[in-house]
Formats: sequence, C-alpha cells, structure tokens
Amino acid sequence: MFKYLSLNHIYTMPKKQKILITAGLPYANGPIHIGHLVEYIGTDIYTRALKLMGEDAIFCCGDDAHGAPIEIKAKEQGIKPEQLIKKVFKEHVRDFKAFNIEFDSYYTTNSKENKFYSDFIFNQAKKSGHIYQKDIEVTYCNKCKRTLPDRYVKGKCPKCKAEDQYGDVCEKCNATYKTTDLIEPYCTLCKSKPIRKLSNHYFFRLSAFSFKLKKWLETNKELQPEIKNYIFDWIEKGLEDWCISRDAPYFGFNIPGEKDKYYYVWLDAPIGYIASTANYCKKHNKKADIYWKSKTSKIIQFIGKDIIYFHFLFWPAMLMAADFTLPSSLIVHGFLTVNKEKMSKSRGTLYTAEEFSKLHNPEYLRFYFARNLSKDINDIDLSFNDFEKVTNNELIANIGNFCYRVTSFLDKNFKGTIKDTDKNKKLTEQITKKIEKVKENYSKFNLKEAVRNILEISDLGNKYFQEKEPWKLIKRDKKKTQEVLGLCINIVNVLATLISPITPKYSEELRKQLSLKELKLKDLKFNLKNHKTSKPKIIISKIEVKKMNQTFPLNLKVAKIIDVKEHPDADKLIILDIDLGSEKRTLVAGLKNHYAEEELKDKLIIVVTNLKPAKLRGVESNGMLLAGDDGDNVSVLTVNKSKPGDSVYFDDYDNSTAQITYDEFLKVSMKVKNGKVIYNNKTLKTDNEEITVEKVKDGANVR
Ligand code: 2FM
Ligand code: ZN
Repeated sequence: MFKYLSLNHIYTMPKKQKILITAGLPYANGPIHIGHLVEYIGTDIYTRALKLMGEDAIFCCGDDAHGAPIEIKAKEQGIKPEQLIKKVFKEHVRDFKAFNIEFDSYYTTNSKENKFYSDFIFNQAKKSGHIYQKDIEVTYCNKCKRTLPDRYVKGKCPKCKAEDQYGDVCEKCNATYKTTDLIEPYCTLCKSKPIRKLSNHYFFRLSAFSFKLKKWLETNKELQPEIKNYIFDWIEKGLEDWCISRDAPYFGFNIPGEKDKYYYVWLDAPIGYIASTANYCKKHNKKADIYWKSKTSKIIQFIGKDIIYFHFLFWPAMLMAADFTLPSSLIVHGFLTVNKEKMSKSRGTLYTAEEFSKLHNPEYLRFYFARNLSKDINDIDLSFNDFEKVTNNELIANIGNFCYRVTSFLDKNFKGTIKDTDKNKKLTEQITKKIEKVKENYSKFNLKEAVRNILEISDLGNKYFQEKEPWKLIKRDKKKTQEVLGLCINIVNVLATLISPITPKYSEELRKQLSLKELKLKDLKFNLKNHKTSKPKIIISKIEVKKMNQTFPLNLKVAKIIDVKEHPDADKLIILDIDLGSEKRTLVAGLKNHYAEEELKDKLIIVVTNLKPAKLRGVESNGMLLAGDDGDNVSVLTVNKSKPGDSVYFDDYDNSTAQITYDEFLKVSMKVKNGKVIYNNKTLKTDNEEITVEKVKDGANVR
C-alpha cells in the first residue's frame, strides 16, 4: 500500500504557521522619541527572536498619516499635508534604522492599499447594517470656517469647572465629554467663540458587538488578564456607538459617495496594519489574505496602554464586521519614565531618538529596554544612573569582557586557531538548559528573563575561563589549553547568537571576529574543530552618563555695549546698542540715574536674549541686561575675561532657548551673595570666569 504514497508526501513537514507582528503606527506629525522606542525596540527584539528560532514571522508597521493635527500643522507651516508626512516619514525611517529596528514592511496609512481596505471594511460593515447615519451637534468656528475637533476647542470643564480644558477630556478631573459640553468654549486657533451646528455623521454600531467581543476575550488565553478585566468592565457598562466620520477640512480618506466627509483617523489607522502587510506581500508575490483572512495565521500586536480602548474594542469589532482574522495576541506595555518622572521638555528628559543616538550607542538602549521588558503594563523607567550601571556591569563587564578576553587570548597564544573543543559535559549541559530557557522566555516576550539567562551563560563562561587559568595551564599543557579556549569560543558563539535579537550589530561584529556565520538557535552545538578566528578588537566599551542637566528658563549671553543714547521720551531710560557676537541688538534699560553714558560704553555685560521683545515708551527693546539691585544701589553685571556671544550659565543647567515673557522672567529668583550671583545654590559663570557684582549688598535681587 505504501507504494501509492510518494515519499515526498510522507516526509513533507507541515507548513509553518504564518506569524504577523505589528507595533502601533506612530503619528506622522512629529519625531520618534525614546518613549516610542520602548515599543519599537521591544517588538523588533521579539520578531528577531522568533526568526532566530526558525519561525515564519514578519514585522509590519508604518506611519499614521491622517487626522486633524496633521492637516493643521501643515497649514501652519504653509505646506501640503502630503509634504509634511513625506518629510516625517523619512525622519522616522532614519531614526528606526539608527536603532536597528528592522521592519519587513514600513508603510503609510496614506496609501492606495489602505484606501482599498478602509472602503472594503466600511462597505462590508454598512452592508451588514453595522453603520448608520444621524445628525449631531458639532462645534464650528465661523472665523476659521471649520468644524473644530476635540483638541481645537477649549473651555471650562462641564463637570469640575476647571478653566482651559480641551474639548474631549478634563486634565483636572478626568471627566470625558463632547466639545459641545464645554462651558465658555473658544477656538484655540483664533480664540473666537465658536457656534454649534448640526452635521450629518456616520456611526459604527459598536454596541452590536458586545457579546462577540466578550466571547473573543473570554476564549483568548494570550491576552493579559488585568487588561481583559478593564474591557469586561467597559462592556458591562454598555458600549456607545462610535462616530467614524469627520467634516472637511480634514486630511484623510473621503467616505465613498460623500464630498466633504472623511473617515475619522482612528478608522483607517489600524487598517494601516493590513495595508502594510499588503505592501510586504506585494513585494513577495503573496496576498495579505494569508494573514488577514486565514484561520491558521497568527497576528500579534504590540500597543501602548493609552490606546487599549481602540485596540480591544473598535478594532476587533471592525474586523468582525468585515470577517477578517482577529489578533491572537495584543501585548500592552506601559509608558517610559525618565528618572522616575514623566518625560518633560522643561526638565530636559524628552530625548528624541536622534538626540539619544548621538549620546550613546543605540544598542545600549536596546539592551536596557530588553532588560526591563516583559508582558507587563507597568511603566518602565530609564534612570540614567541605572542605564550606566546596566550597560557597564552587565553588557560590557559580563558579556563584552568575556568575549574579548577569550578571543584576544586565543589570538595572542594560538594565532586565533582552535583544534578541538574541550569535552566538558557538565558545563555544556548546563548551558544547553539555559539556552532552552532563553527560547522559552523569548517566545513569551519575557525579555527581562531572557537577558537574565544570557547573563548566566556568560557567568558560566567567565567562571570556566577563570577556573581553568589558561594563562598558567599553557605552561604545562598547550594542547589542553587550546581545547579549553575551543570551548570558550563555542560559548562566545552561543552568546553572540542568543543576544542577536537584542544587540544585532554587536552580534554581527562578534561573529565576524569568530569567522562564523549566522546560526539559528537549533544549530547551536559545542563542536567547533580546526577553526581559525579573525583579529579580535574591542566592540563595546563602558560609558559615562553625563549628569542630566535641568533647564534654566533664561538664555544669558555676554554682550558688548557699542553705543549709548538718550531715550527721547523717558527720563529714567537709556538706549543701548549691543553686540552679541553673531548679531547686534538694541536694548532699553532703566540706568539713567545710576550710570553716566561714558561709563557704560564698551562694557561687557550680561543679557537675557530670549525675552519677548517689548516697547518701552515707544522704543523696542530686544532683550534685557542683568544688574544687581538692593534698593539703594544698582550694579550692572559685567565680565572681563569673556567675549560677546559667550554663554553665561549656572552649572548643571542648560539655558532655555524658548522665548519667555517679562512676567515669567520676574519669577526667576537670582540673588547676590558674597559678590556672586546665585540660583539654586549654583554660581553664575562663563567658561572663563565667575560673574562678580560690586556695590550691592548680599541678598540683592538680580534683574
Ligand atoms: O497613538 C498613536 O500614536 C496612534 N498613531 C497609534 C495608531 S495605532 C494603529 F491603530 F494605527
Ligand atoms: Zn477659529
């Protein structure tokens, strides 16, 4: 009977499951910052790990290119939205590349594929009765001639009456509401009072999916339980139907058959996952259906905890309405804090990816994130002290040093050649067990533990090298020493392979030194023979993290007074022409009763350069000079070892470049103490000298 079956048939392995991995699509209206990178690095490591384990996995993502903020930002910049998103796309691609984030497809929601799938899903949902239209009240600005989206109307919170709240949610009491609920609303674009208007809109019948959504959540064992509980709660409270259209002007896709209506960005954004998959498939002669219309594919999506609602309710309901494959897993992570606090511009802790990549090797951040990531929605913290410790003590001192020690010892004593591998059953079994653990932890997105296992392997390697004392052994037994090093090189190869999803560049360099090609995890053995490695060199080295600077609100610079004139209209004021090195400016100062004109000419003074220009009795002043004032005496701050344009600063602070108002300036408290200018215990200085103040008493204000 067997003769009727082809051998081929008997031995064909079942086809591998197709795995699609996605990460949230970043908005195309701003740069990637280190907060975003938690997700893209995490997802990239996970995808690389699955590929390393031989899985058929792809990573698809792209820019989220539609919506009101993009339309408005482009208008502000006087360019077309298409130009804006093109520029941002390039920047995003550059930043991801710098962090070795490798997509199988990085696409955009502003694509023909996305238009196709958006219309398709919309039409399917409409056909099955899940979309209806009704009139709703919207907030409209007569002056700007536009309906105002949530973020473009402000007013008092209808619940707690807090002033200046956005049109969707109150930052004081967390109440959510509609723009039309705001008390005393105003348009944030032109500050005028908007009106209410009726407009016809499309709604998606989310409520009709309550039962199906609940079932999906209940049967899905891979979803994080703490999140499921949130969602059950929301469903229990009753789901509201979802408005999926927006009025023109809007940057997005026109709704079929409509002139001035567009899909709300959150309708076509997640459909962008499908469009990006289609983009990948197009290049590989496949159809996106093998992922999105398949019972056997596996879709794994990474998202931040701020977009749970969209991904656990709207998104699966849309997929259900159009009969697409649901994600089998949605992995939710927390936010990134820096030094345990929310990232903030004014604290100087909001680094763009580009800025960070200039400070440190991006792979150190990849390692640090991996070291902190698991399937967990708690925030992860990037403490700079901790970052330094983790990089230096774990990545460099443990893994990096072991690898370098082994390769350089072998190079020096055996010209990089190994003949055989020491048969140390106990050690190789221990390591093999740990390799299994790494695999298991990678599959479960328990990157934290995977890193721990890798470090343990490196520890075992270090210990073995230390115990064998090859620097002594070589004097007695050269052959044995070479075998010991043989085993060590095998361990280096294991480490290079295991850590490759986390630090791909480092691994690649290591493998080059080992003269070994890339391996899959299943091919890791301890059997290298007659092999020659290449010249070793140090690839990674310890870092020193500069203490984080805070931001000082003023931008202070040295200036030289080049001319002094009387003010035509005021007895206390004088007009100064100053040279700031790269530019000249005019200031108005209240010094008439304190200094003679000749005394001031050619003096090197200190000027606040980021003050909003103001007219003082008809003359525009572009900045302000600093002086000590104790009520009796006024003394201009001067320098003599510095030159025009030099920065004047307090240690540990960076001068701000943002413009400030006079009121904000008055809040900055600088005082004279022992003839110096003090701010938060720091002394005002230039690179060449500390600033001294004469004549005024201790405690005098500096203004
Ligand atoms: O929150 C955000 O940054 C959105 N741009 C995420 C979209 S994810 C997906 F739905 F497109
Ligand atoms: Zn307006």
